[in-house]
Amino acid sequence: MLGVFITIEGVEGSGKSTQLFRLSERLRQIGLPLLVSKEPGGTALGRELRRLLLEPHASGDAWCPDAELLLFYADRAQHLERVIRPALAEGMIVLVDRFEDSTRAYQGASGVPETALDRLSELVLKGLRPHLTILLDVDPELSLQRVEVRNLSMGPEFSETRFDKAELDFHRRVRKRFLAIAQSNPNRVALIPARDAVDDVEAAIWGRVAPLLRNAGFGVD
Ligand code: TYD
Repeated sequence: MLGVFITIEGVEGSGKSTQLFRLSERLRQIGLPLLVSKEPGGTALGRELRRLLLEPHASGDAWCPDAELLLFYADRAQHLERVIRPALAEGMIVLVDRFEDSTRAYQGASGVPETALDRLSELVLKGLRPHLTILLDVDPELSLQRVEVRNLSMGPEFSETRFDKAELDFHRRVRKRFLAIAQSNPNRVALIPARDAVDDVEAAIWGRVAPLLRNAGFGVD
């Protein structure tokens, strides 16, 4: 692998999109070869899967946990094969909004056992790991409030997205899993508190990304 593989993770409302935008703008301005993508939905077929995974189905039917897990990995397999591996082979910086840690955190929090995650990971990733994972950490109580305010400001059709207690508990479990991942992968995962001001979070992220890029031979101040 020639390029640099960076993923960004966090609970809903952690400020991931803002930070991803700022980081990618900075890298573009420097003129570095950059590919920005996301999961689920980093390929044309993956976008179909994203819709099936994230939008409520007209029938009212919902995925059972195993089916959901396999669909997230199907999306990832396609994304790796068609987008991530080729870009890395060309020496690009690949920046991905959510990757496998999200599956471990979210599907893990829904009850998928660790052994199933390990087996699928081996099958699909074949040992490929991000060089760096930025984990934006925030208490879901705060981040879900942010999401609610954002939804309300988008108009009345979004105003029903209220997070109830069960959802808050779920997101607390997700956060705990992200933190456990950070703890067991200290070299890969940069744990960055996301409650701070946006500029401070951006600076903390850059503090981790810049040395990595320099070491990989990219011209970065
Ligand atoms: P998205 O709209 O991208 O949310 P966000 O802006 O918070 O990233 O939706 C992605 C959703 O899919 C999010 O709720 C997390 C979930 N997800 C999983 O449950 N498992 C996964 O493997 C991935 C990649 C995402």
